[in-house]
Amino acid sequence: MSKPQHAMQELFSQEALARRVAELGAQISADYAGRDLVLMVVLGGAFIFAADLCRKITLECSLDFVRVASYGAGLESAGAIRLVQPPSHRIAGRDLLLVEDIVDTGLTMQWLLHYFRNQQTASVRFCTLIDKTERRQTDLVADYAGFSCKEGFLVGYGLDFSEQYRNLPAIYTLLDAADHAASPNP
Ligand code: IMP
Repeated sequence: MSKPQHAMQELFSQEALARRVAELGAQISADYAGRDLVLMVVLGGAFIFAADLCRKITLECSLDFVRVASYGAGLESAGAIRLVQPPSHRIAGRDLLLVEDIVDTGLTMQWLLHYFRNQQTASVRFCTLIDKTERRQTDLVADYAGFSCKEGFLVGYGLDFSEQYRNLPAIYTLLDAADHAASPNP
């Protein structure tokens, strides 16, 4: 791969990601045995995580995809969120597990949980690959979290900076992150 345009430092290696995703898959498989599991993947950042996670889940489950748009100023999400791609399949009566790349302020996930809990689902929980805590504005506690980190702007393994770097196989911290605004969702 050509040299990235921004300075960055590896935070979670490919091996660490693979190990942790396998653990999450095993835990979810045990917890949802006998249930009607739907993995509701939040596009676009969670697509690589979800692709790896679903193949470590040993239960029959469905996959569906949503996309949200959020409008925030600079690095913070303002909490004005709307669903630009709704789910495609029946969700009433089923056990939803939202699959997200990263929870930062928590406003997006809080909105999604509220939205899906009003859809006659049997249960709604969430799994995030990264639980980034420093700027949290809600009291959300992840049902499943791959890794916790305090701060920083992370890219790779699906996470982008202005649509760049999603295809990096590991996760990196942008070293000059303070200079960057978080890329808004489409
Ligand atoms: P929240 O509503 O502040 O929790 O924002 C969640 C969304 O912001 C994530 O789904 C990402 O799209 C984006 N985001 C937050 N932090 C990062 C990061 O470090 N790297 C890439 N995207 C991020």
